[in-house]
Amino acid sequence: MHRTRSLGSIVFLDLRDRAGVLQATCDPRFTPLDVIAVAGRLGAETVVEVDGVVAVRPAEMVNRELVTGTIELQVTALRIVGPAVTPAIPVARGKDEKLAAEELRLKHRILDLRRPELQANLILRHRLLQVARQLMTSHGFLEIETPILTKTTPEGARDYLVPSRVHPGEFYALPQSPQIYKQLLMVAGFDRYFQIARCFRDEDLRADRQPEFAQIDIECAFVTQEDVQVVVERVLTALWKEAGHDIATPFERIRWADAMERFGIDKPDLRYGFELENWTAHVQPDAASFVLDGVAAGGKLRGIRVANGATWSRKEVDALAAVAKAQGLGGLLWAKRTDAGWEGQGAKAFGAATMERIGGVSGDLLLAGVGADAVALPAMGQVRLELTRRPEHLPTIAHAFCWIVDFPLFELDAASGEHMPAHHPFTAPHPDDTHKLETAPWECRAMHYDAVYNGNELGSGSIRITDPAVQETIFRLLKVPADEIQRRFAFLLDGLAAGAPPHGGFALGFDRIAMLLAGSTSLRDVIAFPKTTAARALFEGAPSPVSERDLAALSLAVLVKEKS
Ligand code: AMO
Repeated sequence: MHRTRSLGSIVFLDLRDRAGVLQATCDPRFTPLDVIAVAGRLGAETVVEVDGVVAVRPAEMVNRELVTGTIELQVTALRIVGPAVTPAIPVARGKDEKLAAEELRLKHRILDLRRPELQANLILRHRLLQVARQLMTSHGFLEIETPILTKTTPEGARDYLVPSRVHPGEFYALPQSPQIYKQLLMVAGFDRYFQIARCFRDEDLRADRQPEFAQIDIECAFVTQEDVQVVVERVLTALWKEAGHDIATPFERIRWADAMERFGIDKPDLRYGFELENWTAHVQPDAASFVLDGVAAGGKLRGIRVANGATWSRKEVDALAAVAKAQGLGGLLWAKRTDAGWEGQGAKAFGAATMERIGGVSGDLLLAGVGADAVALPAMGQVRLELTRRPEHLPTIAHAFCWIVDFPLFELDAASGEHMPAHHPFTAPHPDDTHKLETAPWECRAMHYDAVYNGNELGSGSIRITDPAVQETIFRLLKVPADEIQRRFAFLLDGLAAGAPPHGGFALGFDRIAMLLAGSTSLRDVIAFPKTTAARALFEGAPSPVSERDLAALSLAVLVKEKS
């Protein structure tokens, strides 16, 4: 029972199920008086069974806002089958009534899940899952499940560990992804695998990250990067079609290095312009010394042009400067072009000759940063993102997909100062760079490709290493000690030595896709029982302490007992 309205002797009940809302009318002309009395007292969210006759509503009673607005159920009998206590949060809301705070809604998740919006999201999620399964099956892929109690998989996060009771002191790890298993399935001869795989990662959470999430996980043997991309494009086309959108393939392929130069990020939002420009060659000797010194030290001058930005207030420009500085850029230079010429600290720092070469038209705002690529590109990339978020900058297209290809094989981890795999350590080096593996490994590109949509990373994949010697070289470059290689990866290396077909694959972040197609900005809106950003399940109350007895059975002792 969604909501009731009483008009004297007539009671209207809005009944709700997952298909929507239907008006049930209790009227003395067809409803026994004792039923009307009960109906008038029904509390919200009570579960009822109702008998009646579906009838066309009188013309003046038609509700155009309801799908069922032209009909009503004329009630002849009503039974309360599930009495409900007063709901802690409202399910039926008025048009302008705000949602309860999210924490409260997560705590009372089953009530929140009754909201038509969340019902629609989970129904969409179901439909998308079925479409993915059907498409993969129709292309000859086998759905094969891989273990949840397993061994650590390196995907860049911490593992969730599960203590073994029968082997004291030993632990299973929950899979961060089925990566190694799916590769071994190729070695085992299944050549086309997919799975709607549950993955677990203990990492810092954000709106687009959950500690457990689902991937559409794919692997195939005897394929090229292009083959995998075609399959993924078909999956995405089918998913977007299911949500009512026609999209065009093939997606644009952008090399990683070009994406960084043009957008300052490896997941560019191509719905917008504001491409970064390289103005280094325009710098003239009369520019300010910090500009000249920056360029002399190998830095570059990266700029963005904002048409009609000359009218922006100082405060607005300063807000962008703060974004750039937070990314480690020394400062954001700006220049405005008016009919009277150039003005602004940037125009001064560059000098007339440099400004002349950079050029611009009246109304332009130029934004620029000088620095090494590792700092200036991502910083200007963030400035660009801020520009795309301004309400006056409307996207030129709705669905902008692209592939980012030719990623570097390794990236420098800022925290540890060590090189890490840009993807995971099983990604094959680019064939044109394999010769550099011994001499200049950090310069190697990888057979790694990401699918990007409107600035979101939808998924990642790569062609894999199948030569055990190359795999060992990668582990060695990553400074994994020999005994650890044996302990953690012997089963993979032995597999590769058993006759491994060339193979590659991909994993699409399924929750992320469902979120984007539901038009939502949080994964929690498309997961039935999600976790908070503090990795807590508020509804069921997990994680939770366990008894001393249970700990003892697992041969465990807890060192820190206070709540953090
Ligand atoms: P990767 O780690 O890039 O690749 O993951 C693939 C996609 O999974 C989604 N994703 C997440 N979604 C929600 N919450 C998270 N915490 C989370 N982490 C990742 C993203 C991401 O693009 N084994 C490789 C794939 C392969 O090489 O085949 C892998 O897991 O959308």
